[in-house]
Amino acid sequence: MTQKIKVGVCGACGKMGQAVINAVSRENDMELVSAIDIVNVGEKTGGVIIEQSLENALKEREIQVVVDFTNPELVYKNTKLILENNVRPVIGTTGLTEARLDEIEHLSRKKSLGCLIAPNFAVGAVLMMMFAQKASKYFSNGEIIEIHHNKKKDAPSGTAVKTAQLMAGEREKFSQDNCAETETLKGSRGGVTESNIHIHSVRLPGFVAHQEVIFGAPGQALTIRHDSFDRISFMPGVIMGIRHVMANNDFVYGLEGIL
Ligand SMILES: NC(=O)c1ccc[n+]([C@@H]2O[C@H](COP(=O)([O-])OP(=O)(O)OC[C@H]3O[C@@H](n4cnc5c(N)ncnc54)[C@H](O)[C@@H]3O)[C@@H](O)[C@H]2O)c1
Repeated sequence: MTQKIKVGVCGACGKMGQAVINAVSRENDMELVSAIDIVNVGEKTGGVIIEQSLENALKEREIQVVVDFTNPELVYKNTKLILENNVRPVIGTTGLTEARLDEIEHLSRKKSLGCLIAPNFAVGAVLMMMFAQKASKYFSNGEIIEIHHNKKKDAPSGTAVKTAQLMAGEREKFSQDNCAETETLKGSRGGVTESNIHIHSVRLPGFVAHQEVIFGAPGQALTIRHDSFDRISFMPGVIMGIRHVMANNDFVYGLEGIL
């Protein structure tokens, strides 16, 4: 029998961490060997005892892949720590800047270790981004509305940022024909990217992760929408990611890189 992939989950007690632990335990070729969180330390989850320090876990357990769903302030430090300990990261935590992504890519290539960072693990969301990219070739006006639950710490969402980057790959500047605008309430037009794509972040209880990309042209509109109603929507992507980083020594940003 082939060896099971030894997985550690950082942010194990969080909403995503718990979904990942359940998903990993359902796979025959994976084994949860470590659960790291700063809450419920010493208690059990998924059959392992929750430990506080990622650094100690990396040194003391035989972890091959760490899945990280913690928070934007920790993700950079955690990803570097994982790679420096010769372990492969699968990162779902959002909030990494481009400069930090470059640095992590460099480290993963230098170490020749598989590394996947995906702002959205839902396959449907990745397709929504690809469709928006394709539509940008034909529509010169487009804006993004992203909706998340009200416990999300960063805005705009990593998915919205990634969508805007993909759209900008097709067209240098959007909405150039808008008239001069005045905001009587600051922020009304949302955040504006270098390519002049407006991103509007909505935070409401009851929602999980949703995004609409709206394109407008004379006499028509195109709306591309994706909804994650449940965190289970992210799990096939996470499981695929764990297998990918074990089998490949490359750096990948975005789930589309392994689909
Ligand atoms: N890529 C995706 O598809 C995707 C999907 C959903 C959420 N996210 C992102 O994942 C992240 C987590 O989301 P969530 O909803 O599970 O959040 P959450 O707040 O429910 O969980 C975060 C967990 O991290 C733990 N934590 C905090 N500090 C820690 C530390 N030093 N070491 C270990 N654990 C620590 C917290 O105690 C908590 O249990 C967010 O950045 C969110 O935007 C990404």
